[in-house]
Amino acid sequence: MKKIWGTAKPTLLITLLLLVAPLRVVAGEVEVLHWWTSGGEAKSVAVLKQLLEKAGHKWKDMAVAGGGGESAMTVLKSRVVSGDAPTAAQIKGPTIQEWGDEGALTNLDAVAKAGNWENLLPKVVSDVMKYNGHYVAVPVNVHRVNWMWANPAVFKKAGAKIPTNWQEFAIAAEKIKQAGLIPVAHGGQPWQDATTFESIVLGIGGADFYRKAFVDLDSKALNSPTMVQSFEVLRTVQQYTDKDAPGRDWNLATAMVIKGEAGMQFMGDWAKGEFTAAGKKPGKDYICMPAPGTAGAFTFNIDSFAMFKVKDKSAKVAQNDLARIIMEPEFQEVFNLNKGSIPARLGMSMAKFDDCAKESSADFVSSSKTGQLVPSMAHGMSTFSSIQGAIYDTVTAFFNSDMSAKDAAAKLDKAVQGAK
Ligand code: GAL
Repeated sequence: MKKIWGTAKPTLLITLLLLVAPLRVVAGEVEVLHWWTSGGEAKSVAVLKQLLEKAGHKWKDMAVAGGGGESAMTVLKSRVVSGDAPTAAQIKGPTIQEWGDEGALTNLDAVAKAGNWENLLPKVVSDVMKYNGHYVAVPVNVHRVNWMWANPAVFKKAGAKIPTNWQEFAIAAEKIKQAGLIPVAHGGQPWQDATTFESIVLGIGGADFYRKAFVDLDSKALNSPTMVQSFEVLRTVQQYTDKDAPGRDWNLATAMVIKGEAGMQFMGDWAKGEFTAAGKKPGKDYICMPAPGTAGAFTFNIDSFAMFKVKDKSAKVAQNDLARIIMEPEFQEVFNLNKGSIPARLGMSMAKFDDCAKESSADFVSSSKTGQLVPSMAHGMSTFSSIQGAIYDTVTAFFNSDMSAKDAAAKLDKAVQGAK
């Protein structure tokens, strides 16, 4: 018996190997272009890398620093123009359509069908992931942009109340200033100015006005008394930032709130990723509140990876696996726990998520029913990039000069109409 096994073993092994060989994954490489370089962001993207490697593939990281992704998009353009597109790139919103128009994106319908994406994504999300009715991108999350992050110890020290509208904001900010602390942690970069501004517009004008201005690009809304008032509030906010704000990265501004140097920051919930990475607990070390005047409304920012056409067969296998993994529950949960966002995939348990994420999840659903779910202008969800750029330019020019609010609203309308 022993002898039989002794001779049979190698033959058996070879037979087994031959049987298994065709089923083995063809290991491929994916090059992934993204801009997730802050503490919380890097921790999040590492989850995707690990899962892809676990599936037998190689991850080539193409990280381009710069919050909001402007630099990353510049690099992407030059790579594609020179015929050297990455396998996947963090591309969001209407910009996906622009890349579709270029004929650069690949069809993911087979992966989507196998993974039942059509039933697992809210329509507001799946629509964005398609070009001409075909899947070309995969969503990783839903970020809420209209948040305010506050340090309760700073408010306590200043005897200030956490504001729920922009009048209360001015009172609280003044008290924090009097206490010798920085009221608003801000980074003076165009996308951060625009992030703050869109929350102000939502808080002052409400969701319908926001939509008229930043989705319909309606001249009457852009150059209106409500827009003038929004710029006035932006001026107030700017006056409560510190002298080192110009050029500061957003995560360094978040760190000021974490350390108790500043009272609050207006930023999407990727900021929560920084609090989480620093071991801070919501409700205790920090407070998440909808930006003043925006409770019940939700500016969404959906991060997604668009997939480029690849020639190499093994790279195609790896690319499909990447797309499949992104939509799987394991990734959607762990990634979003780190990132501060909520899963894009429907039906996920929120049990492991904190109260900020639970609130975000509940408000995402309720705002879609009350008409208060709006796309983030500052994060490329509401317009093509050229119009977004025109808005950025005006808001930043106002932020960094003594331009009047009235002139800013007129300039905003002119810039947007000119970019159409
Ligand atoms: C946003 C992006 C977020 C976050 C942020 C700061 O545009 O959607 O995921 O990373 O930029 O970099």
